[in-house]
Amino acid sequence: MTDSSDAPFDEPLDYPRYLTAKAAVDEQALSPRVWQPFVDWLRGHASEKPLRIADMGGGIGFTLLRVLAAVERPLTYFLVDASAANLARARSNLRNWAQERGFATEAHDTPITIRRPSGHATVHFCRGDAMTWRPPDGAPIHALASQALLDLLPLDRTLQHWRSLLLSDHRCYLALLFDGATVFEPPGGSLAIQQPIIDAYHRSMEARRVEGAPTGGAYCGRRVVRWLYKNNAQLFTVDSSDWSILGSTYDPLSDNESLFVQVIASFVKSEGRASEKVSSDIVNEWYDKIIDSITSDQIYFRASHLDILAALKK
Ligand SMILES: C[S@@+](CC[C@H](N)C(=O)[O-])C[C@H]1O[C@@H](n2cnc3c(N)ncnc32)[C@H](O)[C@@H]1O
Repeated sequence: MTDSSDAPFDEPLDYPRYLTAKAAVDEQALSPRVWQPFVDWLRGHASEKPLRIADMGGGIGFTLLRVLAAVERPLTYFLVDASAANLARARSNLRNWAQERGFATEAHDTPITIRRPSGHATVHFCRGDAMTWRPPDGAPIHALASQALLDLLPLDRTLQHWRSLLLSDHRCYLALLFDGATVFEPPGGSLAIQQPIIDAYHRSMEARRVEGAPTGGAYCGRRVVRWLYKNNAQLFTVDSSDWSILGSTYDPLSDNESLFVQVIASFVKSEGRASEKVSSDIVNEWYDKIIDSITSDQIYFRASHLDILAALKK
């Protein structure tokens, strides 16, 4: 998802706050059919030393805390992100998580070691680019997690780089890979009004370039599957992990759900207004109707994603 200067109600977007809202939605969306075998592998993998996990584009630490809660063994975790603000929030989320469970943490910023009876977890917070980052000690990685990142990055370059960081026996958990559908219902007028706006939003994802290369874009999920087949990867599980949010009179949206759908609607509005194929007035009207539907709890929102568990063969 892109940052947008045109956030809901035209307030500047607080990205860590948006990721906090997204975490509540992700929790419901992620596929247990992909997550569970990943966790089982992390728990069961034989290694004399702490298991080394890299989390690419780890944001505010959502996957980090899920792994810590599920995997009680010594771990070395590298949370890699380009944003200093997201890393700062990830550190405070980790400290709060540890404090709530009575685990001591250090005062310094990185690494932070959580002293758990079930095995210490040392978390390195690494500001860097997932396309080039390498662990500071140069040692290989047992498992890689990446959630909601690959639509922003060139797939071949990034996945080749990740493969070079991993031990031959490893697992890659690639989650929330956007896969081509965005639905707001009611549609903010009619389907004939909404579809060109959604199309403009998807086209903007398809137009992304990093150093001239196309990114995973609007069909990231299926493109990653294709890349994995083409590169002889071992595919263990692929499953859908759609964001699916329903607000109704009987079951109003939570604050997180409401903020989250508003932010997505504002991303769509920005891209619709930037498109020459749709009139800005029509986009503004569409947006106002969507915001009305959200604030009156009369909205269904869905965005399609895939989760994947794989091993990238050398
Ligand atoms: C949509 S957020 C997902 C965050 C987190 N994985 C989650 O699902 O909540 C994308 C994250 O990737 C980070 N990011 C974007 N481009 C990156 C890059 N080239 N290298 C590392 N991180 C990047 C952003 O700062 C942001 O935290």
